[in-house]
Amino acid sequence: MILAKEFNRNSFARDSDLSISTTPPELPTIAQFGSNSPLELSRASSLAAPFVNGVDLNCGCPQSWACAESLGAALMEKRELVRDMVITTRQRLRDDGWGVRKEADMHDTEGKGRSVSVKIRVHKDLRKTVDFITTVLGDEHNRNIDWLTIHPRTRSTQSSVPINVEALELLTNMFGDKLPILVSGDVYALSTLPYTSHLLQSQLTFNSNSKEPERSGVSGNARPHLPKLAGLMSARALLANPALFAGYETCPWEAVDIFMNKVARAPLPMKLGIHHLTEMCGAGFGPDRSALLTKKERIRLTEFDNWIDIIDFIEEAKKTRGVGAVRGL
Ligand SMILES: Cc1cc2nc3c(=O)[nH]c(=O)nc-3n(C[C@H](O)[C@H](O)[C@H](O)COP(=O)(O)O)c2cc1C
Repeated sequence: MILAKEFNRNSFARDSDLSISTTPPELPTIAQFGSNSPLELSRASSLAAPFVNGVDLNCGCPQSWACAESLGAALMEKRELVRDMVITTRQRLRDDGWGVRKEADMHDTEGKGRSVSVKIRVHKDLRKTVDFITTVLGDEHNRNIDWLTIHPRTRSTQSSVPINVEALELLTNMFGDKLPILVSGDVYALSTLPYTSHLLQSQLTFNSNSKEPERSGVSGNARPHLPKLAGLMSARALLANPALFAGYETCPWEAVDIFMNKVARAPLPMKLGIHHLTEMCGAGFGPDRSALLTKKERIRLTEFDNWIDIIDFIEEAKKTRGVGAVRGL
């Protein structure tokens, strides 16, 4: 979440919050903003639009500092304001010359298409969530948002409490034909989702020459089927295993190698890079709790103060485990 007001006013905030690769992106990038003002969100979106494929408004952050500023999950009580923010932003992007006709501009060959979307939590009383979505969506034949991401927990639900699958089922059944709905929350491994979905029949995409992972079956009577779910978003599990959406249950060494390779080309602040490595080399969130490095090794990793030592350490750890160089990098 990038704070729109600060992004608009400060070039340091823009540099530190939004850095993008100068090579053509392989995947679309969405910049997500925290804002409570139509003017600030539309200005920030206008500044970011040349560099990203779309903008998203965060209505889900439960942190107290954000809610105290009427940002994040506090917006779940301000549905008309959220509607006004997305309408103003869509208009601003249109005035700037971007394509904001949703599906009609998605495959635009000139690369002018830009999306406007919203990420929400749910209310304890789901009727409020239904009202929220109905208001923000607007006319379903000319809707105000391209898609919606639902994190089916309330503002006060701990992330250790499982997501509310019944709420997700109700909302996707109700709105899934009107706009694409993504789910965020508890996407730990594709084989252990608390629901089934046609999305799991899609092709593996991980760019690796190694053996493809086994995909466990996804059928199961206890889990509801969500035919109208359009996408999955993962946060914690994806940090630990960036190959999750390629069907890997745990982080493979190939993902670490690809990460190191990218870091060499576009350096990250070292502390941030080490944080990613310790997440990727830890136990992860799926049913298979095996880790690439032991806890002691991960602590050692946090003590390094230069990339050369980190590279040597990773290579040595791979050697002692009989892991060879990865082909195709
Ligand atoms: C380190 C971290 C940073 C996050 N930052 C954001 C954020 O900037 N915007 C947002 O909408 N959600 C953010 N979230 C929440 C996640 O998007 C997600 O809704 C929540 O973690 C539940 O999904 P998960 O079970 O896949 O982690 C963050 C979560 C974590 C753990």
